[in-house]
Amino acid sequence: MCLRSARPPRWADDRFVPRSHGFASTLFNQSKLSCVLVTGGAGFIGSALVRHLVRETDVTVVNVDALTYAANPDSLQEALHHRRHHLERIDICDAAALQAVFQRYRPQVVVHLAAESHVDRSIAAPAAFVRTNVVGTSTLLEVAREHWQGMHGEARQAFRFHHVSTDEVFGSLGSQGAFDETSPYRPNSPYAASKAASDHLVRAWHRTYGLPVVTSNCSNNYGPCQFPEKLIPLVILRALAGESLPVYGDGQQVRDWLYVEDHARALHTVLTRGQVGATYCIGGRAERTNLEVIQAVCAVLDRLRPDPQGSYARLVRYVADRPGHDRRYAIDPSHIERELGWQPQESFDSGIEKTVRWYLDNPQWVDRVQSGAYRQWLEQNYANRPSPT
Ligand code: NAD
Ligand code: TYD
Repeated sequence: MCLRSARPPRWADDRFVPRSHGFASTLFNQSKLSCVLVTGGAGFIGSALVRHLVRETDVTVVNVDALTYAANPDSLQEALHHRRHHLERIDICDAAALQAVFQRYRPQVVVHLAAESHVDRSIAAPAAFVRTNVVGTSTLLEVAREHWQGMHGEARQAFRFHHVSTDEVFGSLGSQGAFDETSPYRPNSPYAASKAASDHLVRAWHRTYGLPVVTSNCSNNYGPCQFPEKLIPLVILRALAGESLPVYGDGQQVRDWLYVEDHARALHTVLTRGQVGATYCIGGRAERTNLEVIQAVCAVLDRLRPDPQGSYARLVRYVADRPGHDRRYAIDPSHIERELGWQPQESFDSGIEKTVRWYLDNPQWVDRVQSGAYRQWLEQNYANRPSPT
């Protein structure tokens, strides 16, 4: 089936469309897909995508991941030892190792999620973000281009490079409006700037070399297996430990939240049916202030694991704000809804309930990620963050 967009792709205004490769309007034929290379597949979203692909399709998944502090092979669950899943411990800045993996598995699709992903860490130490998100992406693009240029016929036609990005590249919104595929780039944190740079590299490899790319920009994800440096798992685990729940600034910053398995379904949809050269904004239509998010988590915990000392919300503490803190993000997902028929299955309430239950039911996973290095990060990020007066 060939779907056509009611709306042109983000780059459809561009003069250069690689027609010689026949990509512009053809959509990927899922039946030809047998091998997908996922980078960052041992991280939070990557592991959800790998689990989804192993569970829902017949494809072989090659999982390229450097296994940094943010990775956890346990998150792969039943996929970890599945015969159609191969975990390759490789740094995406290592071109030779990437070339060897491409030659060995000959993937038809690359889904690129490997990244340094935490804004606060990017403020504390930006160099790692430039290295992985910018240099790593350009290294991967070059190896993928070489691989694609060596392909022939239908395999070459079908090849895709799907770049997974964030709404944070668009900067901060006022109280109205939402980001969409035409929003200008205005990144504010070192993380967002490094992701914006990677988006631009992907665009350039399409424009210059004709590499068949597709990009998606998603809002904040939450769900099982998220490393507890991010707001929602941090709040769950600190509340259960009776520790303070740190709210940056006034807690009125707004994020749009998407359950991670809905994102995995969206990525599967985009990588199989998205238009080459297009961008898809993905979001949950679930805007909440940070304070509302923390209160929602506390309310679920109060119900599922009541604390004799009173509601977990008593642990909320206002602390010094994040420098350059973006006030509001929101996504208008109409394009992907209309063109590809994707919609989230979880509401914010059902997703939060599932997430809290998962952390309660998986103490082993939690114990493993709360290593010395994690404790050290908490000390570094929160000990020197005095409460505002
Ligand atoms: P994560 O930090 O949980 O996982 C990142 C993974 O990348 C880890 O497994 C890590 O080991 C791997 N990695 C890091 N550096 C690497 C390198 N040099 N070589 C190979 N692997 C490396 O991140 P996440 O939250 O799962 O995010 C995945 C992607 O989705 C990122 O590109 C991120 O920018 C994007 N994204 C995240 C969110 C979110 O809310 N978490 C929202 C939108 C987009
Ligand atoms: P985070 O989970 O780090 O995601 P991002 O910065 O990519 O949006 O943070 C989500 C929001 O929660 C963000 O506005 C910062 C805020 N926040 C806190 O108020 N306290 C915290 O301890 C953390 C980690 C985040």
